[in-house]
Parts: sequence; C-alpha cells; structure tokens
Amino acid sequence: MAKLKLCVFISGRGSNLQSLIEACADDGYPAQIALVISNKAGIQGLERAKAAGIQTYVINIKDFNSPNSFDISMIEAIKSFNVDLICLAGYMRILSDNFVDHWHDRIVNIHPSLLPSFRGLDVQQRAIDAGVRFSGCTVHYVRRDMDTGPIILQAVVPVLNNDNAYTLTERILIQEHRIYPLAIKLIAQGRTTIKNERVLIDGATHPDSILINPEV
Ligand code: GAR
Repeated sequence: MAKLKLCVFISGRGSNLQSLIEACADDGYPAQIALVISNKAGIQGLERAKAAGIQTYVINIKDFNSPNSFDISMIEAIKSFNVDLICLAGYMRILSDNFVDHWHDRIVNIHPSLLPSFRGLDVQQRAIDAGVRFSGCTVHYVRRDMDTGPIILQAVVPVLNNDNAYTLTERILIQEHRIYPLAIKLIAQGRTTIKNERVLIDGATHPDSILINPEV
C-alpha cells in the first residue's frame, strides 16, 4: 500500500519532527515525510531534516507582500509534493483561515496540554500555576481557532509538587514523542473517522485504570 505523504511544519528544535523521522525509518510504518517547511531559517529542526535527507523549505511571511501570496506559496510548495497530511510540530505561527480550510481534515497538530485546557503559549507554566494535578499532550485535527479541533489521542502525566516549567515540559515531551507517530500511523491506516467533530478510531480500546494524584 502507498505510504501517506507528510509535510511537517516546524519553527524550532524539532524533537517531534525527529520522532516522526525515526518512526518513518521503519519499513513497516505507513507514512513518509515528503518535505519539511519552517517559518524560520537556521533552526535545529532544519538540521535534523537535512541529516535525514528530507527536502526543506523556509517560507517566511516577511518575504511576502500579503498574507494571501504567502498562503499561495505554501499551498503551491506542498502541492508539488503530493502531500496527504500536514503535521504541525512546534510550528509557532497561526495559519490563515484560507489555508486551514484548503486543508480541512488534513492538518494535525501536537500541543503540550490536555486540550481544551491551556491553549496557546507557556502552557506548562500555566498548568503549574493553575495547580492542576495532571497535564499531558494532545494530537488533534486543526480547525481555524488556535489549538482547537477534533482530538485524536491524548497522553496524561502527573504534575508533581516540585515541578517547574522545565521538568513538566520534559515529562510531557516524552509522551509527545510517543503519541504523535502513533496518531499519524492511525490516520495512515485509515482508522480515524471524524463524526460530529469527534474522532472515532477503528479497533481502539480504552484503559480501565483510574489515576488519582496525589496518592494519599
Ligand atoms: C512541543 O512541545 C509542541 O507540543 C509545542 O512546541 C514544542 C515544540 O518542540 N507546540 C505547541 O505549543 C503548539 N501550540 P519541538 O520543536 O522539539 O518538537
């Protein structure tokens, strides 16, 4: 069966990109990365892509005289690679409504919180400040509003008393690197369906364990 062709959007370190590169290195994985697009030059994620032999593009809105011409350039770049799915992996720019609509149900994102809680930036510190006992990460289809859209998978981590933004970020990131390749695999296998803005996953079961944090 033909592999799902991915275009990964990045803005920085690219550790989630790396987890996808490693998943795709397995012959049995049903997706492959066709290209990587960054909105910034000189970032670590671009080095990771190049080291894996993946075509990269830097498309910076500042180089365009209108948001519309920026959108057209992105859509054209992606079209020439026959991309099936766009994966936002730490892409820190808001996509235009036009772009999101063009790729409806074909853009996914990973976010380091249990959405719909803590959309936006600085979410690990905000989770600590809010005193929540659990945080985690979410893979979701992308809709017009930032960090919204049908949820595919979530992983939960405990928030510890002595956590700071760094320690919580690291704990969540380990789970991001597990659930992003998994979610894309499910999409590539044709196992996800969106119904009334909820995602159904063919053949999935649910955990029967309940967690209480802290344990007392
Ligand atoms: C990741 O934690 C990702 O979930 C987050 O940015 C980080 C990128 O790290 N994305 C968002 O906050 C999107 N709203 P990476 O460049 O090492 O993958």
